[in-house]
Amino acid sequence: QKHIEEVKAFSSDQAEAIEAFRIKYLGKKGLLNEYFSEFKNVAPEDKKRFGQTINELKQAATEKVNALKTGLENKAPKSRTYDDLTRPSEPLELGARHPISIVKNQIIEIFSRIGFNVSQGPEIEDDWHNFTALNLPEHHPARDMQDTFFIQTDPDILLRTHTSSVQVRYMENNKPPIRTISPGRVYRNEAISARSHCFFHQVEGLYIDKGVSFADLKQTLQYFTTALFGKSEIRLRPSYFPFTEPSAEVDVYWGLETEADYRMTKGTGWLEIMGCGMVDPNVLRNCGIDPQTYSGFAFGMGIDRIALLLHQISDIRLLSENDTRFLEQFRSAL
Ligand code: PHE
Repeated sequence: QKHIEEVKAFSSDQAEAIEAFRIKYLGKKGLLNEYFSEFKNVAPEDKKRFGQTINELKQAATEKVNALKTGLENKAPKSRTYDDLTRPSEPLELGARHPISIVKNQIIEIFSRIGFNVSQGPEIEDDWHNFTALNLPEHHPARDMQDTFFIQTDPDILLRTHTSSVQVRYMENNKPPIRTISPGRVYRNEAISARSHCFFHQVEGLYIDKGVSFADLKQTLQYFTTALFGKSEIRLRPSYFPFTEPSAEVDVYWGLETEADYRMTKGTGWLEIMGCGMVDPNVLRNCGIDPQTYSGFAFGMGIDRIALLLHQISDIRLLSENDTRFLEQFRSAL
């Protein structure tokens, strides 16, 4: 009976003390086992009372140990909340937007002003949406332009090499007029260096309606470069993409005012920023749009390179290293 009082009164928030308590009562050579083995020596008329008492003691000791252990587990975080109610709260750490997001949002905003919505699609694509629908049939040499990562050995499943795949999906599911931009991450099996990475980000745009012409494309590009770079002088160089005809490479006149301008433009003042062209009739047909009725243009640019340009970042790898010393520098940016 005395022990039961003792057990009920015991309290501790020290793990060692609780363990010592457990051993004292419930351990192999503990008090309870001692009493149990004495049981046979107790006079028959006392057996019942004796048994009840040790069972009560056992229950009390077990409950106590469990309760104290639970208390111990919950203690660490809780006591901190209550120890000083006047203590100021933990400072709120303000994060910074990632430069990729900053530039991506700028581009989305600029195109949303002229009626473009945002569309998205999967990063793991099938051959149809990434290549075949885009006028790149199997064994077409232009597939080599984009070093593709395939998923295991299935040549039909791959990591998208451009977000043109999203435009295919969009055309399959929407009727013209279509005005959409598709930002997203893309993958190419390229050597990683300061200038290129095996994944990067693109924004591709698509405009399809009746009577869309190359003049509309040029005007849109000029509007865009003025809005993003504050530079309206552009140059279109003939180029080749399987999904557009005619195709062009877009250069912006950056100027030659600083040493950095010289370096970035290799002394020409011109900077290549994207590819574009009139959507090939085959692509429209592949996506269920009649090229007799509709025409359109498409363009695509890399967000990472533009972010390097706008924020004077010297190494593309910084964009994916998650180094807070780098990322913190964008706190004050948009
Ligand atoms: N898909 C092309 C690329 O990733 C870019 C592009 C898009 C070119 C649309 C022309 C038209 O390189």
